[in-house]
Amino acid sequence: MGEPGTPPLTVGRDSEMAAFTRWFDERYNQGEVTGPIVITGLPGIGKTTLGREICRTHRSRFADGRFRLDLGGSDSRPMTTADALSHLLTRIGVPAVEIPSAEQDRVLLYRARMHTIAMIVGLDNAADEAQVRPLLVDSTHSITIVASRRPLTGLDAGHRIGLAELNPAAAREALEAMLDDPHRLVAEPVAADELVRLCCGLPLALRLVANRLASRPRMSVRGLVDRMKLPGDRLTWMAAGDVQIRTVLADQHAGLTSAQRSAVRRLSLIRTSEVSTEAAAVLLGLDLLSAEEQLEDLVDAGVLSFGSGTGRYWLNELVQIYARETGTPDEPAVPASSGDLTGQVRELRSVLNQPGRAA
Ligand SMILES: Nc1ncnc2c1ncn2[C@@H]1O[C@H](COP(=O)(O)OP(=O)(O)OP(=O)(O)O)[C@@H](O)[C@H]1O
Ligand SMILES: [Mg+2]
Repeated sequence: MGEPGTPPLTVGRDSEMAAFTRWFDERYNQGEVTGPIVITGLPGIGKTTLGREICRTHRSRFADGRFRLDLGGSDSRPMTTADALSHLLTRIGVPAVEIPSAEQDRVLLYRARMHTIAMIVGLDNAADEAQVRPLLVDSTHSITIVASRRPLTGLDAGHRIGLAELNPAAAREALEAMLDDPHRLVAEPVAADELVRLCCGLPLALRLVANRLASRPRMSVRGLVDRMKLPGDRLTWMAAGDVQIRTVLADQHAGLTSAQRSAVRRLSLIRTSEVSTEAAAVLLGLDLLSAEEQLEDLVDAGVLSFGSGTGRYWLNELVQIYARETGTPDEPAVPASSGDLTGQVRELRSVLNQPGRAA
């Protein structure tokens, strides 16, 4: 895998790396690598990191090196395609005076030049298909890795990697690797497991609590866990320096329509990550077909995922907590200390989300 002696950047992504390598080796050996690699998943799930790991693992095959461009997809004003082309052309050696002003001419020049270049291009943080499509080239020498919080199902991808949350064992391993002093976890095994569980498999959450512990050497793991378990405090403690999980989740929320925000909020009332279509229909006040459409719309928006193994939709607990916190004029925030909102919701959860019940 990476360079000898260099620890991998990722934990718990062996199957994704192996599937990519199988796909890539086969195409590469036949001299026909085309189509972008599209990595998608929740904010902080590890898309950029996996892209870097892929680059590191395979860079020896790309004589012209690698280039990563942040397309600003999670900002309120993502980079325009024309500006992205200008950056890409500059990176491959086109002097500024030779960069055409019209976007279409930039596309043609970029495509022509990329035919003679062997490079890994990382288009990180893509906003949507329209932004990124003109930046994709058919090349047997170069590959483009696109990362986005949205599934970008409209792109004709060569290989797709939809990242899920880390399983508890991988999450624990990742947390250990992130801490300067992993013995703090070993010394408090029960609290360490609880801390991992509170992070819900999201690598960014693990990174932030690891940084918290590192910056407070005298704080015990139990002390942090107990603070995180106070009503309304879990997300507050997932913050380090200027990075806060609330801000990251807020960015994602801001990209949703108000109907989508309201739907996520209603789904979050059930307080369980697996959501069946039946449960969603009741929570959203829709018939089954309309509920499924609404759920699929949220999958396209990158908030929910569908587990083909379970036949259920999956809504990460941290996204739920954030959604419950954010009220609208019509729908006030749900107090963090409230239990399962009503007996009706409690009943729903037990009846509709029983394990093994078909969705
Ligand atoms: N598999 C992993 N093992 C260990 N650490 C990881 C893993 N994936 C991500 N991380 C760490 O988690 C943090 C967030 O990862 P990353 O920035 O790659 O997420 P992202 O999906 O690109 O987020 P965003 O949507 O905000 O761009 C980083 O600090 C990274 O080092
Ligand atoms: Mg990223």
